[in-house]
Formats: sequence, structure tokens, C-alpha cells
Amino acid sequence: MRTTFTFHSAGQLIFGRNAAGQLGEVADRLGVARVFVVTDAALVKAGLVGRVESALQGAKLSVAVFDGGLPEPPIALAETCAAEARKFKAQAILGLGGGSNMDLAKIVATILAHGGAPRDYIGDDQIKGPIMPLICVPTTAGTGSEVSGASVLTDTEKKMKVGILSNYLRPRAAIVDPLLTVSCPPKVTADSGIDALTHAIEAYTAVDNEEFPLPPGERTIYQGRHPLGDLHAERAIELIGANLRQAVADGQDLSAREAMALGATLAGMAFSNVGVAAVHALEYPIGGATHCSHGSGNGLLLPFVMRFNLPARLRRFARIAALLGENVAGLDDSAAADRAIAAVERLKADIGIPHRLRDLGVREDQLPLFAEKAFAVKRILRVNPRQVTCSDLEHILRSAW
Ligand SMILES: NC(=O)c1ccc[n+]([C@@H]2O[C@H](COP(=O)([O-])OP(=O)(O)OC[C@H]3O[C@@H](n4cnc5c(N)ncnc54)[C@H](O)[C@@H]3O)[C@@H](O)[C@H]2O)c1
Ligand SMILES: [Fe+2]
Repeated sequence: MRTTFTFHSAGQLIFGRNAAGQLGEVADRLGVARVFVVTDAALVKAGLVGRVESALQGAKLSVAVFDGGLPEPPIALAETCAAEARKFKAQAILGLGGGSNMDLAKIVATILAHGGAPRDYIGDDQIKGPIMPLICVPTTAGTGSEVSGASVLTDTEKKMKVGILSNYLRPRAAIVDPLLTVSCPPKVTADSGIDALTHAIEAYTAVDNEEFPLPPGERTIYQGRHPLGDLHAERAIELIGANLRQAVADGQDLSAREAMALGATLAGMAFSNVGVAAVHALEYPIGGATHCSHGSGNGLLLPFVMRFNLPARLRRFARIAALLGENVAGLDDSAAADRAIAAVERLKADIGIPHRLRDLGVREDQLPLFAEKAFAVKRILRVNPRQVTCSDLEHILRSAW
């Protein structure tokens, strides 16, 4: 073995029911007095913003709330939100919500520390130093943004999701309180849950760290598959496979919610070091054009990309089948690997993820352009275990159409 890797996560991770009650102490330890909360109206209504505010105010902190967060946040929203945070003279930014609000909080914390506009930071490693202290509190399970070095925004002009990748985007503290996910409606639970599964599967089957094809002179936070990533991804696949259906069927089931919260955070620890791959690259143009949720787009594509990657990762897919609870006793790797795809297809159907791209309103004549746009997302595609050409991507899209 000649793997060399680094591992990054949030500076501090607090996990557990009622962990949000510790927010005051966390902010206190960061030495900040003015906290700017980035969230959205649905979470105000669900009472989650009130809970967070009172935990902060109980510690005598000044709090301002921006509740204009939107799903799959457009770039322009980041500018509005950063202007408000600046007006408040924020000393720390707190992202409360799903990936959308946490990602918005990340770019706001970047702009407050370094100035400029969101577009200045798009791509790999464009942030030149630490950002304003950032706390992330996820309310979905979930994107893993609470531990990741990514912020994903929507370029509404180019109809494309765009990513900002930097280890400086990792929150100083992540507070993962499963109780905050209980109010998630079934669709949000399903979409964000299958996104987490996609993170774990893409990390677990990624290109090997030893062979990670990083061109000379380029830098990235992704490194290919490595032992610590595997460890997190395996457990995440198991937890999500065993609990996602139940979390969707009965949102009040706290043990399913807790298992999903843990699974999603572990998947975040895996993918944010190893990388995500072709599923995510293909979702960028599809999400940008159809406005489907990131999770439903990924969930839709996942089995089709698995089918494409299968020859490169037979044993790993066979292992995924077992982790998802399939009985693979007596099967050879190829038959067992097929079971992994079948298991994901069944899960997709059970939780209501659309089956085909046409169900999202995609037209067949859009596929070549989507393939071309996805092919440009090199920083993700190089994580894929099989090298992909633009026509491979089009072929995958046609199979999913
Ligand atoms: N930064 C990363 O590492 C990373 C990783 C994966 C995805 N993403 C991005 O994250 C976004 C998707 O995030 P998401 O799947 O968490 O969904 P989301 O943040 O877009 O939330 C979806 C909807 O659910 C609502 N909601 C969230 N939690 C709720 C709760 N507890 N109760 C009631 N309503 C709730 C929100 O108000 C919103 O309307 C996409 O933009 C995606 O590209 C980022
Ligand atoms: Fe994702």
C-alpha cells in the first residue's frame, strides 16, 4: 500500500439529540459576540430558528436572523445575504438548514472575510485564507455540508449548479442534532437522504488515491478513495440503507432520524475528502435546467451511473449490496454487484424518487447539451472510477431518460 492522504472535517463536531442546546457554549468558545443566522422561512415556521435563537441569546450573544434562504441558492442571493451580514457587523455566521442554507452561510462567511463576489471563488481552492468563524447546524440528513469543504450555488444565467471547493469552507463547529430533522416533510427526507447515500457510494467506489489523476499545478480538496474515507462510507451506506425508508414513512421515528443524521454526516466526511463523481457532475446541468432538488436528481441518476461504473468496481459493488442488507451468500462478485443496483432501484421506488429524466420534464433533445456541460466539471469527473468521455455521459443520460 502506498496511499498518502489527508483528512479534514469540521473543527468540532457535536452530535446528539438536543445538541443544539450547546450552541451558546460553542459560540462562546469561538470568542464571538455577534452571530448572524442564515436560514429560511420554512424553518422559522417549524420553530427551529426560535430554538437556535434562544440557545444563543441564553449565552448573551447578539443575534440577527436572515430568513430569506432559498433551495439551491442562486448566486445573487449570496450577495444580498452578505450585505445584510456586513450591516449587522457579524462576527460569526451560523448556517441553519439543509445544504442550501449552510452553503449560503459558507459563501457569506467567505465574502465577509475576503471581500469580492461569489463568482471570485468558484472552482477549486480559490479562497486564500480562513473565513469568518462559521457554525453549521443541519436540519436535513443530508448533504454533509456541515463537515464539507464545498458550497454549491446556482448560476441562473448559465442554468448550471456551480461549486466552490476549499478546506477553508469547513465549519469551525458542526452541531448535528437529529431532533432538528423531525419536521422535514417526506419529500425532503427522501431527497436529502438519497443524496447522502449517493455521497457514500460515490466515495466508496471512487478512483484509488494512488491513481488520482490530478494534473500538475492543479490543487483540489478531493484525493480519491482512501482508508479513512472507506471507513466512513461503509458505515454511512449501512445506516442509510437500514433507515431511510423508515425516516420517510414515519418522520417521528427518532431512532431512524438519528441513524440518518449520523449516516449523512459520515457520508459527508467520506465524500468531502475522497470526492464525488459522475452522478454529481451529471446532476449539475439537470438541476440547473429543471430545478429538481439536488437529491432527487442524484437519486434518479445513481443506479444508471452505478451500471456504467460496475466493471471497474465489481468487488466494491458486491460489498455495497451486502451493506444495503442484500443476501449475497453464494453469489459471485458480478451477481452480488448487480444486487447493489437492484437494491438502490428498489429504495428509489419506495421513497418516491422519480424513475426517469423524462419524469422531471427533461426532453430527449436536451441530453447532448447536458452531457457537454457535465463533461466540463472535470474536478468531479476525475474522481470517477472509470474514465468518462462526453459520449459516455450522453449514453448514461439516454439510459436514464
Ligand atoms: N456543500 C456540500 O457539501 C453539499 C453537498 C451536497 C449537496 N449540497 C447542496 O445542498 C442543497 C440541497 O440541500 P438539502 O437537500 O439539505 O435541501 P435544502 O436545504 O434545499 O432544503 C429543502 C427544503 O426543505 C426545507 N427544510 C429543510 N429542513 C427542514 C426541516 N427540518 N423542517 C422543515 N423543512 C425543512 C427547506 O426549508 C427547503 O425548503 C443543494 O443546493 C445541493 O447542491 C451541498
Ligand atoms: Fe450531493
